[in-house]
Amino acid sequence: MRKNIVAGNWKMNKTLQEGIALATELKDALVGTTPNCDVVIGTPFIHLATVVETVKKSPIKVAAQNCADKESGAYTGEVSASMIKSTGVNYVILGHSERRAYYGETFEILRNKVLLALKNELTPIFCIGELKEEREANKQNEVVKAQLEGSVFNLSATDFGKIVIAYEPVWAIGTGLTATSEQAQEIHAFIRSLIADKYGKEVADSTSILYGGSCNAGNAAELFSKPDVDGGLIGGASLKAVDFKAIISAF
Ligand code: 13P
Repeated sequence: MRKNIVAGNWKMNKTLQEGIALATELKDALVGTTPNCDVVIGTPFIHLATVVETVKKSPIKVAAQNCADKESGAYTGEVSASMIKSTGVNYVILGHSERRAYYGETFEILRNKVLLALKNELTPIFCIGELKEEREANKQNEVVKAQLEGSVFNLSATDFGKIVIAYEPVWAIGTGLTATSEQAQEIHAFIRSLIADKYGKEVADSTSILYGGSCNAGNAAELFSKPDVDGGLIGGASLKAVDFKAIISAF
């Protein structure tokens, strides 16, 4: 069956020293516990290699927050999937709404990024989710369907089976407005039905679908209690070890 995952997305926060301190604090907080989920922290690129070392011998895995859509070469400032892999990282967050909105990441760019991540044996945590206006117009289902069809439904069933989906309604990100557990369950079940239509029930049942958007220590247990919510992608609350640990403990 599918894995439960609690993944942190630090976004553009923490200097290297602060990041090492946070990773160390989380590692120490988890000593002697056996989380009922996979634990992932998504750090800025420059922290990756060091944080991988910091969390060795702990249950914590590390994610990048992006990768280049090209393999290598004259792309100043970009970081390739193979470079990320070479730091010992296991996951890469792709398609975050902030990257779509501020850095012009299109369905096609994301399709390339997902392929390169998979080629380099990184697990993509592929983010989808609707804007506030789209939810108000009751268009959330068609939006997430288009996002899946545009960037990941080109994959083979075997490759699709390697990815994690994160449903993050844009109106809930960093706003304190969490989707209700019923809203999350409803759209997660819809997403799983789309996967089943495309790849069959077995792939759908084994795909982890995380919820993201103002998920915190106070609401995680309720969200994670829903059958199609397999964990969370956590922004703000991943920046404090106690809060993040409380979310992990919600499983
Ligand atoms: P917040 O948890 O801060 O709302 O951010 C969610 C998110 O964007 C995680 O990727």
